[in-house]
Amino acid sequence: MNLSFRNRGLNPLGWALAVALGLAAGKAADVPLKTSTNTVAKPVELAGVHNAFQVTERIYSGSQPEDEAAFAALAKLGVKTIVSVDGGKPDVETARKHGIRYIHLPIGYDGVPTNRVIELAKAALTQPGPFFVHCHHGLHRGPAAVAIICQALEGWSARKAEAWMREAGTSPDYPGLFRSAREFKQPTQEQLAATGPLPEFTQPSSLVEAMVTIDEHFSRLKLSQQAGWKSPPGHADISPPHEATMLWEQLREMARLPDTAQRPEDYRAKLADSEQTADALRRLLRESADPALLDATFKRAAQSCSACHRSYRNQ
Ligand code: HEC
Repeated sequence: MNLSFRNRGLNPLGWALAVALGLAAGKAADVPLKTSTNTVAKPVELAGVHNAFQVTERIYSGSQPEDEAAFAALAKLGVKTIVSVDGGKPDVETARKHGIRYIHLPIGYDGVPTNRVIELAKAALTQPGPFFVHCHHGLHRGPAAVAIICQALEGWSARKAEAWMREAGTSPDYPGLFRSAREFKQPTQEQLAATGPLPEFTQPSSLVEAMVTIDEHFSRLKLSQQAGWKSPPGHADISPPHEATMLWEQLREMARLPDTAQRPEDYRAKLADSEQTADALRRLLRESADPALLDATFKRAAQSCSACHRSYRNQ
């Protein structure tokens, strides 16, 4: 069931009228943020969760819960099961404290393999709802998983599933995610029965593990950049030169993974480029270089991530 407007007994016209008459004043946070373009899901405000949507009565979508307050907010919504689809380690303990169980079914940016489609469907069909589905930012992989779950559980068409992904902000740079939504097939009873237990934590590959750590350092550098290349407010523990050094070291570690040895030469060249940019950034931060130069070098670092992802991750 689509709740976007109907859950308050008002059709879109009714909403427009209510807003025009000021009847919704004081409930501003409840009003769909993008009334003209949001037709499938309703954006919601959730403490410690970004890109949060109520997609149906039973399904919520968003980013990784930031802190304990986020889990408390999800519990308050009645959420009983969280499905995480990124490579990060879910905070199973904090969720459990709030009466919520985690299911960890990580997927890549290149699409959802058939076995994962079946597991996602099985999670939705057999576990208690409401569900909160998340990836890291709640933009790409999470919404793709929601697109699959809503087709399995709520009888959505593929068309509606794709419309939802566009609404959630899923980038057209990930055609595999859209393809997975479009090509969804309802799993058979046999397929569901043959699927094993749904784990709270799935050990990622060493590459995904490396990427998750690299991304953590990269995100802290982004915060430092916003603070003028100082420790971000409220994060005295974050030292920009240290983060850049860790980023550089992790990229060097990645070069030594067996996975890297099996990749094409071009992949290793792209990795070397990323590593050199991180090294340059690390040196500049140690010398407290000019912020404009730091900005430019950081931009090159970000481009080195995208260059490899474009060729080896996103299709
Ligand atoms: C030389 C190639 C290469 C470079 C450079 C690279 N990555 Fe990746 N990254 C990958 C590949 C390949 C994957 C997909 C791994 C998989 O799903 O098996 C990936 C996956 C990821 C993921 C998803 C992890 C998850 O949860 O599944 C994040 C986040 C990420 N990279 C961040 C970064 C950042 C930030 C940088 C730059 C500082 C970077 N990467 C540089 C190749 C690269």
